[in-house]
Amino acid sequence: MSKTTITAALPYANGPVHIGHLAGVYIPADIFARFMRNKGEEVLFICGSDEHGVPITLRAKKEGVTPQDVVDRYHGIIKDSFQKLGINFDIYSRTSSKTHKETAQDFFTKLHEKGVFKEISSEQFFDPETKQFLADRYITGDCPKCSAPGAYGDQCEKCGATLSPMELKNPKSALSGSVPELRETTNWYLPLDEIQKDFLEEYIESKKGDWRPTVYGQCKSWLNDGLRERAMTRDLDWGIPVPIKSAEGKVLYVWFEAPVGYISATRELIPESWEEWWTGDSELIHFIGKDNIVFHCIIFPAMLHLRGDGFVTPSKVPANEFLNLEGQKISTSRNWAVWLNEYLEELPNRQDELRYVLTSIAPETKDSEFTWKDYQTRVNSELVGILGNFANRVLVLINKYYGGNIPTYDRKQEVSNLSTEYIKPVTDKLSSYKFRDAQTAFMELARMGNKFLADTEPWKQVKTNPKETENILGFAYEILSNIAICSEIFLPETYTKLTQSLNLEFTNSDKKSFWSDSKWYVPKSDNSIAEVELLFSKIEDETVEFQMEKLKNSVESTTTNQTQKEMITYEDFTKLDLTIAEVKECKKVEKADRLLHLTLDVAGIEKTVLSGIAEHFSPEEVVGKQVLYLQNLAPRKIRGIESHGMILMAEDSDGKLRFMQPSEKVNSGAKVS
Ligand code: MF3
Ligand code: ZN
Repeated sequence: MSKTTITAALPYANGPVHIGHLAGVYIPADIFARFMRNKGEEVLFICGSDEHGVPITLRAKKEGVTPQDVVDRYHGIIKDSFQKLGINFDIYSRTSSKTHKETAQDFFTKLHEKGVFKEISSEQFFDPETKQFLADRYITGDCPKCSAPGAYGDQCEKCGATLSPMELKNPKSALSGSVPELRETTNWYLPLDEIQKDFLEEYIESKKGDWRPTVYGQCKSWLNDGLRERAMTRDLDWGIPVPIKSAEGKVLYVWFEAPVGYISATRELIPESWEEWWTGDSELIHFIGKDNIVFHCIIFPAMLHLRGDGFVTPSKVPANEFLNLEGQKISTSRNWAVWLNEYLEELPNRQDELRYVLTSIAPETKDSEFTWKDYQTRVNSELVGILGNFANRVLVLINKYYGGNIPTYDRKQEVSNLSTEYIKPVTDKLSSYKFRDAQTAFMELARMGNKFLADTEPWKQVKTNPKETENILGFAYEILSNIAICSEIFLPETYTKLTQSLNLEFTNSDKKSFWSDSKWYVPKSDNSIAEVELLFSKIEDETVEFQMEKLKNSVESTTTNQTQKEMITYEDFTKLDLTIAEVKECKKVEKADRLLHLTLDVAGIEKTVLSGIAEHFSPEEVVGKQVLYLQNLAPRKIRGIESHGMILMAEDSDGKLRFMQPSEKVNSGAKVS
């Protein structure tokens, strides 16, 4: 039997994972790994944290900590939350490990020794103040397409254009604010152009009809555009040092070493035999999101191919589209996301609910959407209403009529028919990576069970027809046993609960026959029910409202607190005439709910200011206060009153306003600088 290595994209350790990652990568990968294991296949399920790359260093800089601090923190959070969700990796490793450093450097050295890389010198931006070359993300400037300030060297977040740093107008270093210079530097390039013809085209073509059309299509379009060589080394200081003398101060490109992380993790797990999983007739399957396609379908296969030594290339890459949230793109920087670690805390013991809903809406063929309302509906009507309801009815009736003992019953339905009708659809869909449909087929068992009870009405038969009642409930128990065995791959918590309640223990051969031969499970009937436990409970409206409110607030507080404005010079700053003023009088402005009309004293001179704070303060509250006052703002006429200058306020994350005051009373008119 051949070995299968299943990988899930290594998440960046610069934030927790969110539902988009789960629906697109980790849940389908976990379902597939569970399916394969239960079939009795030899599988390894590999993942870990991606701990290098510029976003991590930027985050560290912003927080005033080291990159290692950042990745240590998030590696812990991510690993822990995956485990709580029941994502059953054989190993969850990390790319800052010693094993990975060695493995990645070795991979690079092997390619280097074979003469694979091209050394190319080019001019790159260099920060003369911090004395380092600048990664694309470290350069900001005005967008050449839409002129928005603050565009990055690789992308403008305003208009979405993909950029190169040389295109930016007024480029500045994001590290020091200084104007970068062009300097020559040498890097090592992977000649994708050279192997396009004799390897990549054939490789991608061989996947036609096998890979998802979107994945194959994206690869084709890269190939049609013509591949170019790509730098595998970078002038940065956070990363794995390039293992060549002449490359001092350079690190491996994160997209070179991160995929090698799959190999490193295998090596860490099984140091003696890891190679067996990466060579020969082993299969390699990558679960990823669509933004990772080029790296897993073109660059990594090229690396593995060029490495030779019998290394396999990916055989399947079931990449998913994106999941949106409440009508908008999920965004880490805008905090528009449902974070797994927070979900687990706020909705305790509802792991299966999340897995279920995210699988129901998995973006397999096109982008899809998560809303809290839909989450509630699916949980309440499907998990509670269909699955939980069926399990509960069966258990309660068997308890009531037979004291919990499974009745002996005449089996009336052919196992082969049941297998074809109910089990085969599940395994077929799983084998073709259609996890949504597979889960729907699984739920069909519970739907069928409910219909069976409704049609046969054992509660009516029990008085008049005891034998038939035994047959009905015996078969209902049989259906529930099939639900139990099947739930292990979709709903692991439910599996634990059901096997406990039903007092069932499935052997490996039970599982193999079910998953590998798609065979209906027939339980032994000399068994009794252990306990009746509700599988699911309803999601209340308050829960949904709380989550929607939270989402709205978090995005507001990030936009108000964290948007960084453009750099200004000290000269720019000195143009502001800031003083402390005292409020002498204050009254409401007629027909303007938000405005207060203030009279300020500034070193004996009176100033009139209109301020939009009436919803936060009454006039009485304001009189007598010392406030921070911007004097030289050009006067504006509002509602017929001329307003001079402006009072500065702080806005808290809850939207409340506070005055800015000196820590002790000062003369009115005191300068602020
Ligand atoms: N960290 C990348 C992302 O989140 C995925 C890396 S996958 C690997 O998009 F193969 F490079 F490890
Ligand atoms: Zn732009």
